[in-house]
Amino acid sequence: MNIKFYIALAKGIIAGYIPAGLYRLVSKGTGGTISARYSYSIWLRHLVMAYKNNLPTQPDTIAELGPGDSLGIGLAALISGVNKYYAFDVIKYADNQRNIKIFDDLIVLFRKREKIPDETEFPEIKPYLESYEFPTHILSDDHLNLMLKNDRIKSIKNALLNTGKTHSDKIQISYFVPWHNSNIIKEASVDMIYSQAVLEHVEYLEYIYETLYRWLKPGGFMSHQIDFKSHGLASEWNGHWTYSDFAWKIMRGKRSYLLNREPHSKHIELIHKAGFEIICDIQYKNKSRIQKKYLKSKFKYLSDDDLTTTGAFIQAVKKR
Ligand SMILES: C[S@@+](CC[C@H](N)C(=O)[O-])C[C@H]1O[C@@H](n2cnc3c(N)ncnc32)[C@H](O)[C@@H]1O
Repeated sequence: MNIKFYIALAKGIIAGYIPAGLYRLVSKGTGGTISARYSYSIWLRHLVMAYKNNLPTQPDTIAELGPGDSLGIGLAALISGVNKYYAFDVIKYADNQRNIKIFDDLIVLFRKREKIPDETEFPEIKPYLESYEFPTHILSDDHLNLMLKNDRIKSIKNALLNTGKTHSDKIQISYFVPWHNSNIIKEASVDMIYSQAVLEHVEYLEYIYETLYRWLKPGGFMSHQIDFKSHGLASEWNGHWTYSDFAWKIMRGKRSYLLNREPHSKHIELIHKAGFEIICDIQYKNKSRIQKKYLKSKFKYLSDDDLTTTGAFIQAVKKR
């Protein structure tokens, strides 16, 4: 076992002794949606990929799983024309002070038609794009000028300040934390669902994909970037597949989530099982330096493909 294993174990034990509420206060946020440029980059990447894959690029209602430190990605979507935004998380990382700051910064980025921040600024972020120019072929000047009118910006801000209240306005923002049940919103009510670096963390993955299918309107689609790496919990990027369930349970401690350790093939299997048609499945690869004999028994089935797939960008449609 390596040093990262023992550090992860110790963190899990600490998380097991500190009450969950206090642990949340002392633990760091998630790190990504802390900035407007990150949020802008993620939203536009999902949108550009949707366009590339002939998927609808003017959704009215969207849902996001795991927004993290702010609702920034959804706010970028609202600025570009979305009217209704649902966000679902298991920990309330986002607060309105940060949301408002990010929202104001996002408006500046959209007004300037800023280029999409690329690998030089965010080397870890995927999906990669062929071009990082502002996508005027998707968000035309006429469209964006309308979306950026003062009245509309005021309505988004108003919705942000009233998140969670009963809505009557056209623009609505709902932040559900925690959420556990697919009945929380209406069936077949969403045009697009996305997540960034979330589906490797969720528990009950099969139920999650069934739920996303249920929420989407026929013809709607989902868009996910998933990271299969060990998130620093092992010295090898795929070393988490050599740990026993028992060690993993201790590492998790009382945290609300850690990693579900499901490989690429499992996601693909469950997406099909839920009823989706996969439109795009870009796999990011790295060498595996783990010998198969060191895999724990529940991971012995991993193919060479799984063992070398560090991440994937997947878009899938609920057929009409
Ligand atoms: C690594 S963070 C990513 C945050 C954000 N998407 C970003 O790009 O910065 C993972 C997020 O997934 C959330 N999460 C974990 N399990 C979840 C679940 N079952 N449903 C919704 N969100 C979940 C976490 O609370 C956290 O906000």
